[in-house]
Amino acid sequence: MEKLEMLYEGKAKKVYKTNNDKQYIVDYKDDATAFNGVKKGTIIGKGVVNNKMSAALFSLLEENGIPTHQIELLSDRESLVKAVTILPLEVIVRNVSAGSLAQRLGIEEGIPMKETVLEFSYKNDDLGDPMINDYHIFAMEFATREQLDLVKKYALKVNEILSKFFLERNIKLIDFKLEFGLYDGQVILADEISPDTCRLWDAETNKKLDKDRFRRDMGGVEEVYQEVLNRISKK
Ligand code: C5P
Repeated sequence: MEKLEMLYEGKAKKVYKTNNDKQYIVDYKDDATAFNGVKKGTIIGKGVVNNKMSAALFSLLEENGIPTHQIELLSDRESLVKAVTILPLEVIVRNVSAGSLAQRLGIEEGIPMKETVLEFSYKNDDLGDPMINDYHIFAMEFATREQLDLVKKYALKVNEILSKFFLERNIKLIDFKLEFGLYDGQVILADEISPDTCRLWDAETNKKLDKDRFRRDMGGVEEVYQEVLNRISKK
């Protein structure tokens, strides 16, 4: 597998072409941003944690019937993935109130939702990823009805699988963001699943084990990223 020119550099990852036009190499960086790039910093070792954790969780999801872009872990910071065309949607799944939902609804963080909440944002940095609904998605042709049905079905299944997996490691999955792509015309799960994209709280103490520690200047950021990787690496 040959790593060719860089195709794209995002806030946390670089994507490279390979000599196989159906495969990309993703290279995870330590760069951290928050509030749509307004806050910038570095979380040492984050790229390694996010790469290894995403690879492990994508394997778990594949074993449980969710198609994902993951092919194999190549190195500490690199994974080989399927060359998907990303749907311009951020899919947010929420089990417990936190972050922008708590703000928007004027409620405290930590309130369990009576039903799982699914939200969609239009993936567009210049616009700050505005929240959209099914009508916008169809009107703007961001996805077809069939594709959106699958996205919802997969997102809820991912939530079931990951909530159980994390809880077995004494972690509550509060909320998370997923991205999906098209590969050979099929909807598959892409991007990453990491403490950058999930809110993870210790099940006993509610200690935040995720990027909120960076967003909110809480300290101990590197330590909790390592802690999550350690907990999920245990069988
Ligand atoms: O900020 P908000 O409360 O809407 O975030 C919900 C979840 O989605 C959090 O777990 C957050 O880490 C994730 N998220 C993300 N990328 C974004 C927006 C949110 O990973 N651009």
